[in-house]
Amino acid sequence: MISPDHNFIFCENAKELSIKGANYFIDCVSESINKSACFNVALSGGSTPKALYYLLSKNDYNKNIEWKKVHFFWGDERAVPAHDEESNFRMAFEILLKQIDIPQSNIHRIKGELIEEAAQLYSRELEENIKIKKEGMPVFDLIILGLGSDGHTASLFPGSEAINEKHLPVTSVYVEKLDSTRITMTPPVIKAAKNVLIVVSGKEKATVLNEIMAEDHPVNKYPLNLVNECTGKVTWLIDKDASGKLSMKNFE
Ligand code: 6PG
Repeated sequence: MISPDHNFIFCENAKELSIKGANYFIDCVSESINKSACFNVALSGGSTPKALYYLLSKNDYNKNIEWKKVHFFWGDERAVPAHDEESNFRMAFEILLKQIDIPQSNIHRIKGELIEEAAQLYSRELEENIKIKKEGMPVFDLIILGLGSDGHTASLFPGSEAINEKHLPVTSVYVEKLDSTRITMTPPVIKAAKNVLIVVSGKEKATVLNEIMAEDHPVNKYPLNLVNECTGKVTWLIDKDASGKLSMKNFE
């Protein structure tokens, strides 16, 4: 089950999800910058958020954001260099970051090519750049998360040791099903964020979303369930295809 305290926004389609996501992002930035000097956001990889990132690069949105106060981080990264097709950094850079007027020092890439060392370096990057801490964990203004059809989020996959990490903000994990190493933020960092935005789109997510919403499952089985322990605001953007198997009883 997912906490009824979360905010669920249902969208007609992926396009409406990206528009609502871009508007949410702008509201989040405005709210945070009114209270503090900067806005620290961790981006998700994958395909779902691409259209949202693209909209933010367009004038209607771009001009409403004080990019010089925004610092970009990533929730996870593949063990590849920045120019690699698989890189989450490259995806966001091509679609959004190279289109906006933002200082290079505001872009905090996970150096995935360094593998285990990348996790240590990134933990230090968070420590040095995110001033607000909660129980020793850096507090992001916003973390954007996707949902894999197996219930993973960031690079926290079912059965992964990283799910049980309590002390490190970032760790490296070998993902057997992908036969590849990932660098990922850990549950404590996600739980500490002021705002978490979960974007879920497509028929292939309907089954896992219904499972997560309808019944209690251990985080080890569906890692996205960790958001039930988030201390900040959690908002779900779900399109019609992904919500196809949900029933009203999920929300009673
Ligand atoms: C990644 C993401 C990952 C993603 C999900 C959903 O590095 O791939 O961080 O957690 O959000 O796999 O991916 P889609 O949006 O492509 O379905």
